[in-house]
Amino acid sequence: MLKILFYDTKSYDEESFERRRKEYPGIHIDYLKSTLGPRTARLARGYDAVCAFVNCDIGTETIETLHEQGVGLILMRCAGFNNVDIHKAKACGIRVLRVPGYSPEAVAEHAIGLALAANRKIHKAYVRVRENDFSLNGMLGFNFFEKTAGIVGTGKIGAAMARLCYGFGMKVLAYDRYPNSSLDFVTYVSLEELLSASDLISLHCPLTDDTYHLINRETIRKMKDGVVLVNTSRGGLVKTDDLIEGIRARKFFAVGLDVYEEEKKNVYEDRSDEILESSVTARLLSFPNVVITSHQGFFTQEALSAISETTLGNAQAYQKGEVTGNEVE
Ligand code: NAI
Repeated sequence: MLKILFYDTKSYDEESFERRRKEYPGIHIDYLKSTLGPRTARLARGYDAVCAFVNCDIGTETIETLHEQGVGLILMRCAGFNNVDIHKAKACGIRVLRVPGYSPEAVAEHAIGLALAANRKIHKAYVRVRENDFSLNGMLGFNFFEKTAGIVGTGKIGAAMARLCYGFGMKVLAYDRYPNSSLDFVTYVSLEELLSASDLISLHCPLTDDTYHLINRETIRKMKDGVVLVNTSRGGLVKTDDLIEGIRARKFFAVGLDVYEEEKKNVYEDRSDEILESSVTARLLSFPNVVITSHQGFFTQEALSAISETTLGNAQAYQKGEVTGNEVE
């Protein structure tokens, strides 16, 4: 029996995994509400594996503690793994498996939703109409039809976003070191060209040393005035202070963020009763043309089902000593 300690459990996680687990009699899961970090890693004593998510802290200290508890496997129930110290895991002989792609369309559709909401001020309209205020002042948007979309990173999600933008009647530009030849309607250009020509810029590359703060004062300066920026990838891609400066300078028509640098403490927590000590989130939300969601791009029924299926498949493959291609190395 492979024993998994499942961290940061939400009711929808447990439902989705338990529904699927019936097909895996050799796997036992205990569900914890606590998130995985240096202190809670101790709870994994006696377990073969832990299951974690994007908001867990799986840095050096956590990995060392997991290793001391005898854990040999980290099952990431997400695509990103920038929160895992991979080198340390390898040094400790801990395997890391992830879910590389579960529903790229889920994230791409959310990116389009953010672009539309921020451009057409749907977030403001919702509140205004609830107050019986039917005026349109401040609601003016622009058509995406016949405008230019710039997609940074055309992997699974970026490709899905490119298709959606093309469906809107947009000209689609992209920047990626490895162009996707199946996207025959996309024109690959340099990052500079993409920044200067796009009316809608959507980020879909991973967070790496190369892409950290890809959007900064310099790159913002190269963008068209009145651009719409959407980030559903990782907060660290955008230097928030420079973004705020750009918003104040009226560079952006609208900004839609599903991820942002300060999200770690917020993601999936109800903090509505707290007085937040310092908050760039609050500063961003003070702008009328910014829409923020809390890392929910992946959150569809289809994606949850695919996540539990692949994660349990990963666990079973580990148990059998098989290689899945989902290993992070
Ligand atoms: P993917 O691995 O299929 O595609 C990433 C693409 O980015 C690749 O084509 C790669 O060549 C390209 N790339 C790498 N470095 C680049 C650079 N410096 N400049 C331009 N392009 C570069 O990944 P996928 O599945 O499309 O996911 C993309 C990102 O979306 C993930 O890294 C993750 O951070 C984020 N994500 C967000 C979710 C959410 O709920 N908001 C859910 C799932 C993923």
